Amino acid sequence: MIPEPDWKDIVKELRKGTAVVLGATDAGKTTLVKYLLKEFLHKNIKVSLVDSDIGQSSLGLPGTISMKVFNSPRDMDDFKADYMFFIGSLNPSEHIPRMIEGTKAMVEKSKSKGADIVIVDTTGLIAGGLGKELKIGKIRAIKPDVVIALQRGEELEHILSLVEDAVIYLVDVSRFARERNRKQRIEYRNKKFAEYFKDSQIIGLSIKELDFFYRGRRFDVKTTGIEPDVLLGINRGDSTVALGIFQRFKDDKIVIKTPLKSLSGITGIMIGSFTVENQVTVNKPSG
Ligand SMILES: Nc1ncnc2c1ncn2[C@@H]1O[C@H](COP(=O)(O)OP(=O)(O)OP(=O)(O)O)[C@@H](O)[C@H]1O
Ligand SMILES: [Mg+2]
Repeated sequence: MIPEPDWKDIVKELRKGTAVVLGATDAGKTTLVKYLLKEFLHKNIKVSLVDSDIGQSSLGLPGTISMKVFNSPRDMDDFKADYMFFIGSLNPSEHIPRMIEGTKAMVEKSKSKGADIVIVDTTGLIAGGLGKELKIGKIRAIKPDVVIALQRGEELEHILSLVEDAVIYLVDVSRFARERNRKQRIEYRNKKFAEYFKDSQIIGLSIKELDFFYRGRRFDVKTTGIEPDVLLGINRGDSTVALGIFQRFKDDKIVIKTPLKSLSGITGIMIGSFTVENQVTVNKPSG
């Protein structure tokens, strides 16, 4: 990573509060976010990262929004989420209200855990009406003090012109930023999933003791079913404590592959809309 000269100014000016980083795909958002994390930690500032990029997630796993509070530079070595919010999709445009809700929930969680600065990384969906709806929706929900806008030209102007109560830092896209193609993006996600599920076990949970949700709504699993290999969120109450991969139904049980060790207190299953192995979108759960 090669820091740009104006990145230092952000560190100097931002003392506390929430900063959201906006930019197109491959603008260097995550690179800048990691630089800021490191710099703040070296100044002994307690900083939280909210990773709201459900496609090229860095802190969390694809299909989730996540957060972690960092207390010291050493915490960077354990770059894994403390909490996650399940979206279950790789495509933010189909889940805009829940993307906004999840980002807000993770920012609030960060504040409740005592973070002095909260940095929000975002997806590269900025174009057109959908990009505007998603980004302005997030900004209105989390009320950031600062919007860091990574631009090549004026691709963020339609969003920035609607920002009301935040300071905007305009930052040029680094000349070292590199584009990644679709294949590299899929490989990246495969690696994240392989790492997460590597020490998994196959478990069975009694269906009648669980609530099922699809796209945030209650879902009758007995009549509709689930496609094999679909990503699942495993919940205790409102919190997604682990991810799983749907295997099959057997008798009155749902059979799931998951690294989750303790199965006590599981109350709900969130059903995703893509398969983990091939990352194919499954529009409706069906059996
Ligand atoms: N300042 C920099 N120095 C060196 N490499 C950089 C720099 N900025 C970006 N890159 C490289 O460019 C690529 C894209 O950067 P990054 O992942 O930070 O972008 P992003 O905006 O988060 O992308 P996405 O929208 O996919 O999440 C990465 O390979 C990253 O290492
Ligand atoms: Mg990124």
